[in-house]
Amino acid sequence: MKRSKGKVLINLILINMVILVGCSSVKREEKEIRIGVTLYNQEDIFVSSISKAIKEKAKEIEEEDGIRIVVDLLDAKANMFEQSNQVENLIKQKYDVLCVNIVDRTVSATIIDKCKKANIPLIFFNREIVEDDMKRWDKVYYVGTQAKEAGEMQGEMVIDKYKNNKSSVDKNRDGKIQYAILEGEQGHQDTTLRTEYCIKTLYNEGIGLEKVDSETGAWRQTNAQVIMKEWLGKYEEKIEVIFSNNDEMALGAITEIETFNKKNKKNYKPVIIGVDGTEEGLKAIKNGNLTGTVISDAKEQGINILEIAYELSIGKEVNIDKNILRITHKKVVND
Ligand code: BGC
Repeated sequence: MKRSKGKVLINLILINMVILVGCSSVKREEKEIRIGVTLYNQEDIFVSSISKAIKEKAKEIEEEDGIRIVVDLLDAKANMFEQSNQVENLIKQKYDVLCVNIVDRTVSATIIDKCKKANIPLIFFNREIVEDDMKRWDKVYYVGTQAKEAGEMQGEMVIDKYKNNKSSVDKNRDGKIQYAILEGEQGHQDTTLRTEYCIKTLYNEGIGLEKVDSETGAWRQTNAQVIMKEWLGKYEEKIEVIFSNNDEMALGAITEIETFNKKNKKNYKPVIIGVDGTEEGLKAIKNGNLTGTVISDAKEQGINILEIAYELSIGKEVNIDKNILRITHKKVVND
């Protein structure tokens, strides 16, 4: 996205004129853009890397354009009520743009209507609001990814491995893949679509499948560890492939499998596929514990959120198809 330096320059000249024309004793005002960001939960590894990128991009533009950009980050601590209050306060304080990583993606209408009334553009990210709500106002944007694509890529990585060497996936050689799914938070678009499409992709390839189990770990490593412990107790080494809706949960499963192997002097190593490409996830691929992941580029998402926010706050028109920007995924495997 190209920003208009000309417009910024004009803005700066106007501001300086105001300062010069204003009385000499008045405190010098500086043009400042204020962007309010509320996160569904700051503890979430993936979301916190998006917010880090938002901040970094703001610094970069500040240095380039010589304009002060304040990015204020708030943590809703997984509480929708708290987040609604945060939004109200940001509106009261007349922030230029709000960026909302909404706790409950089905209830965005009130937030949209409030921002519309105050004429404060709104960018949702990572947690996709429903289509009808997107249509409530033309200054509502969404930045995220194509959830279906991540699921398909997870499936493709297993297909490639299977075609390359069947028994590296179908360890018991029964012509079917015994799989389990570690699901993210229920109701999240990424949970629903990643889960659906990783399996559909294998199915469409005509690969024999047997579902062993699926449980929700709500994106968290510690939850996945508990689930994996339970699965190992129930199924021992039966699961051949674990699809995890994100890397954090895949890492939880890996930790538990390591404990199981040590305790039982085993070398159980199912195929494990994650999503996100977090720092720890990529490390696990390098050291061979994680078979593959789909990179959902948090940095790129953060950069785009900030760029859109900046352009909206300097009054520039933002032309994005249906106001939705999706960053494409990339596959990573350990070769
Ligand atoms: C990521 C998860 C993250 C969730 C938060 C998903 O896109 O894959 O790691 O916890 O977003 O909303």
